[in-house]
Amino acid sequence: MRGAKELIDLALRAREGAYAPYSDFLVGAALECADGRVFTGCNIENAAYSVCNCAERTALFKAVSEGARDFVQIAIVGGKRAEGAAQICAPCGVCRQALLEFCDAGDFLVHLGAADGACVTYRLSDLLPAAFSPERLT
Ligand code: THU
Repeated sequence: MRGAKELIDLALRAREGAYAPYSDFLVGAALECADGRVFTGCNIENAAYSVCNCAERTALFKAVSEGARDFVQIAIVGGKRAEGAAQICAPCGVCRQALLEFCDAGDFLVHLGAADGACVTYRLSDLLPAAFSPERLT
């Protein structure tokens, strides 16, 4: 498993691809699979605001569409264009739920990084307690 710093650096690079002309808030994510592959993503906005896609789900959907189904950790960075990724950026509730579908929430690590090297790490189960999980339907 990669170190948090390596994954945060990949997220910072992915953030450069963000398309966010409406919020000017640029986000990058790097998602590591159990087999070691990493998929990155950025947020992609739209003039019809509800169509906007978060960086985390861009990375997740790229990965799932390439056959990945098992993930171990994600790094996320975000911030206004003029400020860079100066402060940590927590994933929205929709992205927490989307990630839960494909990981073991008690083991899956969420690294919230910043450009200055700051990093706070959570387990997904702490960010989404008492979740509606896929097991509920079995
Ligand atoms: N955004 C993300 O990409 N990930 C998050 O976890 C929070 C928010 C994006 C969505 C939108 O393009 C912009 O940041 C402002 O909400």
